[in-house]
Amino acid sequence: MPDIENSREVLKNRYIGGESQKIEGWFYPQAVQALVLIDKFQRAAGIEGHIGEIGLYHGKSFILLYLLARDSEKCVGIDVFLDEEFKTSFFANMGRYEVPGSPPRIEKMDSVDLTSQQLLDWVNGFYRLFSIDGGHQMEMALGDLERVAPVLAEGGVIAYDDYFDPQFPGVSEALNRFLLGPAGVGIAPFFIAGGKVFLTTVGAHELLYKAFETAFEVPLEESTKDHEGIYRRDFHGWPVFVLI
Ligand SMILES: C[S@@+](CC[C@H](N)C(=O)[O-])C[C@H]1O[C@@H](n2cnc3c(N)ncnc32)[C@H](O)[C@@H]1O
Repeated sequence: MPDIENSREVLKNRYIGGESQKIEGWFYPQAVQALVLIDKFQRAAGIEGHIGEIGLYHGKSFILLYLLARDSEKCVGIDVFLDEEFKTSFFANMGRYEVPGSPPRIEKMDSVDLTSQQLLDWVNGFYRLFSIDGGHQMEMALGDLERVAPVLAEGGVIAYDDYFDPQFPGVSEALNRFLLGPAGVGIAPFFIAGGKVFLTTVGAHELLYKAFETAFEVPLEESTKDHEGIYRRDFHGWPVFVLI
């Protein structure tokens, strides 16, 4: 008999419904909303792939990513666990949301040693959602972007944290370098919310941008007008929505 209480859908709704904010870490309600919407748009558009995150801390964002995975999808988390306390807390939190028979793959490692090929091999395919929130120095964040971009499925999304946090200028520099350099040519930003920049493959930019346009009911002709906390802006040459 299926365990309804611990089904992915039930756990996900509880987590989205408020439990996520009880876990220590950095994952703001707007970012939760953005990921839930992106998952919905990807489902509607038939975009498939696996899910991953670099930088787990206590699991706050990883647990939602894990719960967004569909039955056929795998979920991978990578963290060096700078502090042993993060690791203990991560596994305790994760344990409360693990779907029976469907554990995530957790790799305790420095992402400097991670390769794109490993990411592909672990799930035997490409990724549709990948959160980058590991090392915040410029070289580390840039390296993570360069490792993750090649494993993104068409229409896959990178959630890149802390670009606008003045504490971490290296994170901003890394994304700028990436988008202006050769590794970033196929990747375009389309949404900014909850401290994260969301990026997708160039070919899917229009689809995802338009999906947000429809979801927020922002009329097309209001190309520069502010609209109830939703702003249309340009970023690195791409139209993006900003949710405040
Ligand atoms: C800002 S926290 C992640 C926050 C988390 N995503 C959340 O939802 O709260 C950064 C995490 O990245 C990990 N980290 C830092 N440098 C890393 C590296 N080089 N490789 C892998 N993980 C790293 C740290 O151990 C820490 O858990």
